[in-house]
Amino acid sequence: MDVQFASALAGRSFPPGEVWLVGAGPGDPDLLTLKAVRAMEQADLVLHDALPGRAVLRHVRGGAEIVAVGKRKGAAPVPQAKINARLVAGARAGLRVVRLKGGDPFVFGRGGEEALACESAGIPWRVIPGISAGLAAPAAAGIPLTHRGTASAVTFVTAHDETGALPALDWGALARTGGTIAAFMALSRLDELALRLIAGGLAPSTPVAIVAQATLPGESGLRTTLGTCTLDARRAALPTPALIVIGDVIGVLSERVAPVMGVIQHAGA
Ligand SMILES: C[S@@+](CC[C@H](N)C(=O)[O-])C[C@H]1O[C@@H](n2cnc3c(N)ncnc32)[C@H](O)[C@@H]1O
Repeated sequence: MDVQFASALAGRSFPPGEVWLVGAGPGDPDLLTLKAVRAMEQADLVLHDALPGRAVLRHVRGGAEIVAVGKRKGAAPVPQAKINARLVAGARAGLRVVRLKGGDPFVFGRGGEEALACESAGIPWRVIPGISAGLAAPAAAGIPLTHRGTASAVTFVTAHDETGALPALDWGALARTGGTIAAFMALSRLDELALRLIAGGLAPSTPVAIVAQATLPGESGLRTTLGTCTLDARRAALPTPALIVIGDVIGVLSERVAPVMGVIQHAGA
């Protein structure tokens, strides 16, 4: 056993003056890692996104300052530069700073930008990985992202670039991989996404699953196709956050996501 692994098992203590970018997982507090819980228990300052809810935040040490910096309804989001500055200022003041982010900090979470800000300010930082919604939402819906003979690749994409538009990806190449596509932040961009993938060669009958609020009490889902997903999603008025899964892996296992709209049926339910 190497030294690094031993220290990971023991649960490294959190030195003052460091910033830890902590993944809070998809929402269910039981899906937090032990390291994430230990970080919250030691933190002096926690800056959190909108996704980690009260059940997750209850692990934060009493007396620690908790600041919400995520997008809130009716309120302008805190600019990234301001969040970066707050992380650096907190660490410089000798605080143990946790930046708590939904899912995994390095999957469409701007964790890289925050780590860079720490690096350029000379602040020690580390990342505590979390279970990304890209893994948790398909699992909650009983959809294997890969399946021998059905999908040998999986691609995570975002439907929002830094300007809010659909990213300038080679959607045709993506369509031709024959693998599964898991799209983040895509519910409001479903029409464009579906059109690009169909133009790229995917059949309108390609299965699509929309998994909303995965692992949270409001977990729900919709099974549809690329050709009809925009209309079906509009009719179903699914809540956010939602992950879109595209590919033949949908339906490999017994269906947990109802054809039109329904609560995800868990085994034994
Ligand atoms: C800014 S991204 C953050 C992703 C996060 N870093 C991760 O690894 O899951 C937010 C998007 O993640 C997805 N997402 C996050 N939590 C989710 C959940 N509980 N159920 C479904 N999708 C979720 C949605 O696509 C949402 O728009």
